[in-house]
Amino acid sequence: MLEQATLSVGGDTYHLPVVDGAEGDRAINVTKLRETTGFITLDEGYYNTGSCRSAITFIDGDQGILRYRGIPIEQLARKSTFVETCWLLIYGELPTREQLRCWSGLFTKYEMIHEGLYKHFDGFPSTGHPMAILSAMINAMSCYEPSLIEMESPATFQIAAARLISKIRTIAAASYKASIGLPIVYPKPHLDYCSNFLHMMFSIPFRDYEPDPDTVAALQLILILHADHEQNCSSSTVRMVASSGANMFASCAAGVCALWGPLHGGANVAVVEMLQHLHDDNVDLNDYIRQVKDKNSTLRLMGFGHRVYKNYDPRASIMKELADNLLGKMRERDPLLEIAKRLEDVALNDPYFVERRLYPNVDFYSGVILRAMGIPVNMFTVIFAMGRLPGWIANWREVNEGGATLYRPRQIYTGGLARDYVPIDERKSA
Ligand code: CMC
Repeated sequence: MLEQATLSVGGDTYHLPVVDGAEGDRAINVTKLRETTGFITLDEGYYNTGSCRSAITFIDGDQGILRYRGIPIEQLARKSTFVETCWLLIYGELPTREQLRCWSGLFTKYEMIHEGLYKHFDGFPSTGHPMAILSAMINAMSCYEPSLIEMESPATFQIAAARLISKIRTIAAASYKASIGLPIVYPKPHLDYCSNFLHMMFSIPFRDYEPDPDTVAALQLILILHADHEQNCSSSTVRMVASSGANMFASCAAGVCALWGPLHGGANVAVVEMLQHLHDDNVDLNDYIRQVKDKNSTLRLMGFGHRVYKNYDPRASIMKELADNLLGKMRERDPLLEIAKRLEDVALNDPYFVERRLYPNVDFYSGVILRAMGIPVNMFTVIFAMGRLPGWIANWREVNEGGATLYRPRQIYTGGLARDYVPIDERKSA
């Protein structure tokens, strides 16, 4: 007999099925709760809500474990490439040599964006935020790919996925060039995924950027580390939009918007701004920590804490090592890295952070690395989006494969009781 949980409420007892995950994770299925009891569950902020069953990514937040399709992030970081990791996340297995060759070939084939799309960049003011432009352009792409919206076969899906992952770097780099008033640089088919992006970011007419292998490797690692993270805010958004039957482009454009916020992907910008402020204003770190702990202040230690990790974020450990390696090779030391390390040290020895199990997350060191690579601060979250895209696509696919049930939460209504409409002449001013 399957295990059941027992719920007693209002003198009645109900039995709810228990669901077991592959890694010992357990849930109580409440899908029929309202139908049988009249109650719904309330979990504002989804602290304890499993919104779906997913076979893509596993996180054990207490142990600090992250695996894509079962493979530990540490192994992928050491041995894989971003292009291969995209396949793994979307299709569930590492590609064979032939599959990888064809997959990479699709990325090269679709690296250009439609000439009509380039004209959109003229419509944005130079002050436009690259995340706004990215989201708008991903959505606009669907206007140029109408045959891919229906996605009638696995082959069309594969082409749409490869197009999106390939073109996001072209759009991202073009939005940067447009924002600084320089001519847009076209992709070069002989370059690998990361070198090509750096070429489009930093080449200028008559002067090609020569990608430095350490910078290329760092970008590759950053993209792999960001590629998926189970039901985070942006991936859940993508699933929510996808559940209505919306196409992949629309769903991923929504993911970009969700990622933008400083509590999610925008934290990499917030961390560097915080470190810069600490440096420029010569702020005492102990004083700063006192401020972030103050309940009357809205200040948070950016890059610290995570909804799921109550241990060191495994991505942060890899980022820290990368920061040390990459910046260690540079002639000048970056004072922000030194401040980040001292800040981490102070925080990890403070009972406030220890008791709440707040550790550095992926964003704590990523901004310092991106800065060292010459990436401007307003592009940091765009890089995060480029990395997260395969995760969004994998989630979009999973929703669609499951026969798309509409995601539609309920609520506890706290507004006014029923009342009549008042004509405008009879309304009293408040
Ligand atoms: N600095 C100071 N206090 C914090 C912090 C922080 N960074 N994070 C959490 N706390 C405190 C919080 O005030 C609360 O204290 P108390 O119990 O006394 O009220 C307690 O820790 C629990 O916080 P919470 O807000 O309930 O936890 P959460 O799960 O909602 O927060 C978080 C997760 C990431 C939003 C939060 O830790 C935070 O705001 N961190 C800073 C922003 C950041 O770095 N975001 C990137 C997340 S990782 C990248 C990604 O996946 O997007």
